[in-house]
Amino acid sequence: MHSAIVTGVSRGLGEALARLLLGRGFRVVGIGRSSSPQLAGSGYRFVACDLADVAAIDAALDGPFADLAAAKPESVCLINNAAVAGPVGVLAHLGAADVEASLAVNLAAPIVVANRFCSAFADHVPRSRVINVSSGAAQSAIPGGALYSIAKAGLEMLTRALAAERTAPGFRAITLRPGIIDTQMQTFMRSQSSERLPNVAMFQDFHASGRLVPADVAAARIVDRLVLADVEHGRTYSYAEL
Ligand SMILES: NC(=O)c1ccc[n+]([C@@H]2O[C@H](COP(=O)([O-])OP(=O)(O)OC[C@H]3O[C@@H](n4cnc5c(N)ncnc54)[C@H](OP(=O)(O)O)[C@@H]3O)[C@@H](O)[C@H]2O)c1
Repeated sequence: MHSAIVTGVSRGLGEALARLLLGRGFRVVGIGRSSSPQLAGSGYRFVACDLADVAAIDAALDGPFADLAAAKPESVCLINNAAVAGPVGVLAHLGAADVEASLAVNLAAPIVVANRFCSAFADHVPRSRVINVSSGAAQSAIPGGALYSIAKAGLEMLTRALAAERTAPGFRAITLRPGIIDTQMQTFMRSQSSERLPNVAMFQDFHASGRLVPADVAAARIVDRLVLADVEHGRTYSYAEL
């Protein structure tokens, strides 16, 4: 049995990935504050967990991870997908709570989940894989989007740290920069004021010029190229090359 753990399954890319994987016969554990009604069936288990509450994550995951490990899957793939684009705002206008909230969901939570994943699966399952969903913003600073960029840059280092620490042939850690996908995250970005997000026109143009990729289309490529096929340990993959 092949299995996957996906964070952020209420909508967007995470929902599309979980739905596709279930359709391909994977056992899927979805983690988030709520689950899409489209995700159901005997192969699906939803774990309610607010990833902003970092200290509570371990307790929420212990039982479900132990149950999945006990089913002795041939492979298990963690997709650290959940994220928040906000709060946006240029430095000098951010609050300490904004900083804390953004880094909790976008950086601290994926580290905690990956840490738990490694202890539960990496040494016990023939093939295990971590896919950290990052963004081009990890490399290019977008005015007003500093918190998101900083967190994604840190998330990419999580991939590299995993690759440096874990060299067993059955384990892979990779980063995905998924391109621009037609989800609520893009809606949120293009509806910001230019005071908070000076480059808001770029996000409006992504939409107006029809450049957004449907989440189902992106998910199919990601599953075929990064979940099912072999990948290079530690590497960053961009959607354009999938
Ligand atoms: N869309 C793009 O163009 C784009 C571009 C580059 C990278 N990405 C990356 O792709 C991934 C998927 O993004 P998306 O576009 O699908 O975004 P989205 O539609 O906004 O979905 C984000 C998901 O994360 C979950 N989430 C947010 N805060 C959470 C929390 N505190 N606890 C648990 N779950 C939480 C959301 O659940 P709730 O319903 O609970 O909020 C939702 O399921 C993210 O890592 C994003 O950074 C997206």
